[in-house]
Amino acid sequence: MSSTSDFELREFVADDYQHAFDLWSSIEGLSLHENDTKEAITSFLERNPGFSVVASDKNNNIVGAVLCGHNGRAGSLYHLAVADSARGKGLGRQMVQFCTSKLIEANIPHCSVFVFTNNDVGNQFWINNGWDDPMTREFAWKVLQKRL
Ligand SMILES: CC(C)(COP(=O)(O)OP(=O)(O)OC[C@H]1O[C@@H](n2cnc3c(N)ncnc32)[C@H](O)[C@@H]1OP(=O)(O)O)[C@@H](O)C(=O)NCCC(=O)NCCS
Repeated sequence: MSSTSDFELREFVADDYQHAFDLWSSIEGLSLHENDTKEAITSFLERNPGFSVVASDKNNNIVGAVLCGHNGRAGSLYHLAVADSARGKGLGRQMVQFCTSKLIEANIPHCSVFVFTNNDVGNQFWINNGWDDPMTREFAWKVLQKRL
């Protein structure tokens, strides 16, 4: 657990689901899917214990959240969000650092995040925090998906 004067970071547990879901639902730039049900997120947290994080304010309201997990060789981050009222105070960066520290401890050297190309705030955040856009490399790659 870590804290600044007004906010505290702690592990995201299944009981945080509804508060996190409410936060995500209120955020422009985030899109929720059929795999964001309580059952699915609980399963994700059980498969990746201790990697995801929430930020709470002095009144214990959740003002930030991100999901983090890995498959044994690479990590992924999903749904990074900070409430409007708590932005610009370093919470986003601290939550990402929390997650990447856990990945490093687990010997996972690589992490990806999915961001909509039209999410200017999200893209600026990642680029300003040292995340690379593979589409700008000489040998660019893309993500392909299929609904199963
Ligand atoms: C992206 C987001 C999580 C950032 O949260 P935050 O707590 O405000 O970010 P931080 O205060 O930790 O910012 C850290 C650094 O990121 C960069 N940054 C943050 N917000 C930025 C913005 N709107 N534009 C450009 N750079 C930004 C800055 O470099 C900042 O460092 P600085 O304050 O020293 O300049 C928040 O704006 C948000 O929830 N956005 C909507 C959801 C979203 O787009 N999520 C990402 C998609 S996966």
